[in-house]
Amino acid sequence: MALIPMRVLLDHAAENNYGVGAFNVNNMEQIQAIMMAARETDSPVIVQASRGARSYTDDAYLRHLMLAAVELNPEIPVVMHQDHGNSPATCFSAIQQGFTSVMMDGSLEADGKTPSSYEYNVDVTRKVVEVAHTLGVTVEAELGCLGGIEDGQGAGLTGEEALAHLTDPAQAAQFVADTGCDALAVAIGTSHGAYKFTKKPTGDVLRMDVIQEIHKRLPNTHMVMHGSSSVPKELVDIINEYGGTIPETYGVPVEEIQRGIASGVRKVNVDTDSRLAITGAIRKVFADDTKVFDPRTYLKPARAAMAEVVKARMIAFGQAGHASEIRRVTLTEMANRYVDMGG
Ligand code: G3H
Ligand code: 13P
Ligand code: ZN
Repeated sequence: MALIPMRVLLDHAAENNYGVGAFNVNNMEQIQAIMMAARETDSPVIVQASRGARSYTDDAYLRHLMLAAVELNPEIPVVMHQDHGNSPATCFSAIQQGFTSVMMDGSLEADGKTPSSYEYNVDVTRKVVEVAHTLGVTVEAELGCLGGIEDGQGAGLTGEEALAHLTDPAQAAQFVADTGCDALAVAIGTSHGAYKFTKKPTGDVLRMDVIQEIHKRLPNTHMVMHGSSSVPKELVDIINEYGGTIPETYGVPVEEIQRGIASGVRKVNVDTDSRLAITGAIRKVFADDTKVFDPRTYLKPARAAMAEVVKARMIAFGQAGHASEIRRVTLTEMANRYVDMGG
């Protein structure tokens, strides 16, 4: 059993009208939490690592942990994806490390902050597609910029400026044709991190209509929703009950994500909800017993809390029950398919 290309999974999701959560990881417990949730729900898995995660784990730890996840769960198809690659070089080094999917985020320049030109985005994305497809590796691209900057990369856009950088559906069709990407991340008003909205989002700030419009023009393109944590009040409340001071905040309601999935969203990025679950569980252990110092005493409940939230998302996105249906396609087979598809 080996890691599979993401394209295989997204194609299956499209054929069967479901979405797949892509969960960020930085350590063993997070990978274990995802695999526990996948086993319990028979879900295919996308594990993703940001540049920060790769540097935190030094690549080699991450690679071996992922191989362990695959070895211990032969019945679960697993994708290992580079989240927000900032340059072709980052994507190529991920491929060298065994990632079966990469995101070339050319919506921002290589600094991960400055919105780029359309031409720059096409150029870097095309470069990655040419190499990745030869190796059977999937490529996610991004058009338009997410709001906020709080976590990971982002241009820090708010208000009018953020609205001006939502994905333009007409340009999306051109971009997919110009780059040959497998999946397209779209900007619809979400942002990374816990502070997305100051009240439950309505259609004027969370622009699901943009997704519907892109789906009309590109019915066969797999869309990706970034910044899709729901920031559940119950998880924030646990943190605050045990000493945290997280202000009132709102994420993307699960039912809105489900609407997106009905309109062509196939990959749903979730990081913050896992972080909240982990932090709440650890805070609770420390508050309940201030004498605790064995890391297993707090990492075990932290892992279980993340597994719970991941499991809930896997069920809500519809990927539960599909793991066993997915054919194990190798990178070589996938590379040949790209040749047959003409690139
Ligand atoms: O891109 C955003 C993800 O949540 C990853 O965040 O860069 O802090 O690892 P990170
Ligand atoms: P959240 O911060 O909403 O979990 O988004 C994660 C993400 O988009 C990773 O690329
Ligand atoms: Zn993202």
